Amino acid sequence: MKHLITATALTLFALASGATLAQSMKPAPSAASAYPVAPAAGLYQAFGEEAGIRSLMDDFVVRLKADPRIGDQFTDTNLNNLAKSLSDQLCQLSGGPCVYKGPDMKTAHADRDTTRAQFNALVEVLQQSMDARGIPFTRQNQMLALLAPMHRDVITVR
Ligand code: HEM
Repeated sequence: MKHLITATALTLFALASGATLAQSMKPAPSAASAYPVAPAAGLYQAFGEEAGIRSLMDDFVVRLKADPRIGDQFTDTNLNNLAKSLSDQLCQLSGGPCVYKGPDMKTAHADRDTTRAQFNALVEVLQQSMDARGIPFTRQNQMLALLAPMHRDVITVR
């Protein structure tokens, strides 16, 4: 399984370039419009709608904080607030009715000196959470494809 996870993290940037094609499609609404990639049909439902996404994010933030590569970044973080923000964001991005009201990704990650390695680590932790919930691999990649374009705003150390 580990080789699969690593392979997917590496293809994340390849998925991001697929945005060029997707940008000609119907854009996702509102705050997600900074990354106008249309979600795959049924993606929100495949993640168990609002409750499923929230519970996935509750698991994800705990794993994030425990991860030896990036856990230090979240020492002072209110995990409940972060899980709520992430839930709104993923819910909206995947085609759900939620609206993410937090700061844009550039603002949220300014001055954090985030590297590509850290970004890939976060993706791998998210994959661990999605695996733990039995979310099909194809659906995982569809969600990751929506997050991938954010690397431009999150990674500040190149
Ligand atoms: C696609 C990748 C990512 C997404 C979608 C994402 C999303 C978010 C969101 C929604 C917030 C909360 C903003 C708010 O409501 O104030 C946040 C905060 C944060 N992110 Fe990210 N992020 C990503 C990557 C990363 C990476 C790679 C790191 C570093 C390892 C990171 C570190 C942080 C930190 C430290 C915070 C502040 C947490 C706090 O409130 O203390 N993020 N991120």
